Amino acid sequence: MTRIYLDHNATTPPSAGVIDRMAAVFREEFGNPSSVHHFGQRAKAVLDEARSQVATLLGADPSEVVFTGSGTEGDNIAIRGVAEALEVTGRKHLIASSIEHEAVLNTVKALARRGWRTTLLPVDATGIVSPDELRHALADDTALVSIMHANNEIGTIQPIAELARIARERRAVFHTDAVQTAGKIPIDVKALGVDLLTISAHKFYGPKGVGALWIRRGVRLQPALTGGKQERGRRSGTENVAGIVGMGVAASEALTKMAAESTRLAVLRDQLESLVLSRVPGTARNGETEPRVANTTNISFDRIEAESLLIALDLEGIAVSTGSACSSGTLEPSHVLKAMGLPAHRTQNSIRFSLGASNTEQDVERVVAVLPAIVEKLRSLTRTPVRA
Ligand SMILES: Cc1ncc(COP(=O)(O)O)c(C=O)c1O
Repeated sequence: MTRIYLDHNATTPPSAGVIDRMAAVFREEFGNPSSVHHFGQRAKAVLDEARSQVATLLGADPSEVVFTGSGTEGDNIAIRGVAEALEVTGRKHLIASSIEHEAVLNTVKALARRGWRTTLLPVDATGIVSPDELRHALADDTALVSIMHANNEIGTIQPIAELARIARERRAVFHTDAVQTAGKIPIDVKALGVDLLTISAHKFYGPKGVGALWIRRGVRLQPALTGGKQERGRRSGTENVAGIVGMGVAASEALTKMAAESTRLAVLRDQLESLVLSRVPGTARNGETEPRVANTTNISFDRIEAESLLIALDLEGIAVSTGSACSSGTLEPSHVLKAMGLPAHRTQNSIRFSLGASNTEQDVERVVAVLPAIVEKLRSLTRTPVRA
């Protein structure tokens, strides 16, 4: 069976260029980049090259790029690091949006348990944070605001430049989780006006377990990991040289392909979206159509349990994901769709289709060909009528 992968927001396959370069580094550059001798200096040279490549992707200075072990780690270093550094100044308030990835949400919750005052900003029905809501939430003791660049479930892009400007007026530090935008849309940290920005290599055809945190020079941050002071003391631990080099290659490839690939994916995504909405009754798109990353659509299927649809599609060789998560036998609604104020029948029935490099028009045709019958069959197993 030819399998169709429509889960690129979960992870992407490393590109051939990434794999080849990583294999060469594993073989040839085994030195410790902190060592002074020849072997160490060679490893340091490839690390520096990757740092420049990642910096170019972000419009940043290479000296401000810190390599991490994942997007989750970048988010944690940023939020915990700023919180700890500013605690002594009496600033003990954190703001995040209610639709953040768990890497941010659970970090904010952990700090709340340690006595931090926290505010989760609401979003409107389209999934966008309102600048006015941020303005109202900011206080004199706000240390940090963390709002994601694009949401992983629905793909909508937040007005980060405006939100960051509002935070700056109150002297709060601004972090954005750009894991779902890096490599997909142009990023310029200076134009965004943020202080910290997180990315993760495996979302843009690099390896898993590698990420980067951009930290604007001058931002006060307590390191989460203490040790040999690698990465200018921001993240101790010998760097994952091959993985980081893989991320550098992926960053360069993304920049070269970005414009054409996002146009191509937007056409495919829009085709898929409009055909599903028109051919499958009882469906609705979740989130704003624009601004949105080009590869993502999120659709609710009335009277369908998302997990059942995911499994039925997988049996047909089609890989998608659900917004809701099945934990201990009950279907948890998607916290993103819930925050958008959508009713239960939308929050528990959503499927995310996220397209990428391997997808073609034939893939869209195949999904649209099998989906109506699968949905009809699943619905025939339940008795409630289709909601208008
Ligand atoms: C928005 C967002 N932030 C953070 C992460 C975590 O990244 P990683 O898988 O590299 O830990 C993800 C991954 O799904 C994500 O989508």
